[in-house]
Amino acid sequence: MMKQTEWGMLPDGKKVSLYTIKRNGTTLTASNYGCIITSLIVPDRHGNEGNIVFGYDSFEEYCKDDAYLGAAIGRYANRIGGAAFLLNGMGYHLTANEGKNTLHGGEGFHKRLWEVDTDEHSIIFRRISPDGEDGFPGNLTVSVEYAIQADGGLAITYEAETTRDTVLCLTNHSYFNLNGGGNIADHQLRIAAEHYTPVDKSNIPTGEILSVDGTEFDFRTLRPIGVYPFDHNFVLNKTQGIMVELYAPKSGRRIALTTDMPGMQLYTGCCLTPRKGRDGEQYGSGMSVCLETQHFPDSPNKPRFPSPLLRAGERFQSHTVFVFDVVEN
Ligand code: BGC
Repeated sequence: MMKQTEWGMLPDGKKVSLYTIKRNGTTLTASNYGCIITSLIVPDRHGNEGNIVFGYDSFEEYCKDDAYLGAAIGRYANRIGGAAFLLNGMGYHLTANEGKNTLHGGEGFHKRLWEVDTDEHSIIFRRISPDGEDGFPGNLTVSVEYAIQADGGLAITYEAETTRDTVLCLTNHSYFNLNGGGNIADHQLRIAAEHYTPVDKSNIPTGEILSVDGTEFDFRTLRPIGVYPFDHNFVLNKTQGIMVELYAPKSGRRIALTTDMPGMQLYTGCCLTPRKGRDGEQYGSGMSVCLETQHFPDSPNKPRFPSPLLRAGERFQSHTVFVFDVVEN
């Protein structure tokens, strides 16, 4: 089932829509504005459906949003230090939007209008990011697909091709709360990561790769998240299978995540200023969890980190899958 509804209009008169797909208990709504996931509904352990992502009521609120709620992030998710990098001996200067650094691509992908193709269980958004957009080289033909699998899981597939060598890091910025509200200190988390990448005062990695052993970053076995303000990149183990598990004992809802990206930003919304969300709900810090699969932050300037390089003519493809289920009492 696929349903399209009109949602709003951009200043240039272009229409913005919402697309809803539903399968095996999961209902996803997303927009061609920023590929924003506005709603993701799954049942709890008693079969009651509820929204597990933060959202706003109106298109206008998304236009004003400064926290990337539910959006696709590109060309480079997370930070590039000094808003610059060197590639093939050439210096590239990017849009600086967080002090002197670039966060989430600068102007980015999250407030652009994308082309759309829909199917019964999937939505594909496409756009061409022109050579020089935000300072990045190459015309980038990029697509983001949201598909609901037969098991009700959400599979996100990113594809891209560039006309000149460039760097690329795409993610989704959904804020999850598996109880549908309240704080997430009691959510339990497991991350298959032996290491994390520490950052300096402006959140740029120092370049070190440190062990999680004996630190607050040790999520190797499922445990409550607590109140520590997480905003850190984890180095995912190169293993097959479930890499991240998020479980809410209260509702019984669980997410099992797999990805082919080398890192994941765990962000518990510590910079999320208080605001009104969907249905008058009050959102703030420590009330949601972002699981942003990604290249390590500032990789274009950190030769020892896995390379985010996409060469001209090469085909980029990446998958992140969120499987939803419930744990009985
Ligand atoms: C970053 C945070 C940032 C937030 C913006 C996250 O991906 O890691 O540092 O404040 O996005 O909403």
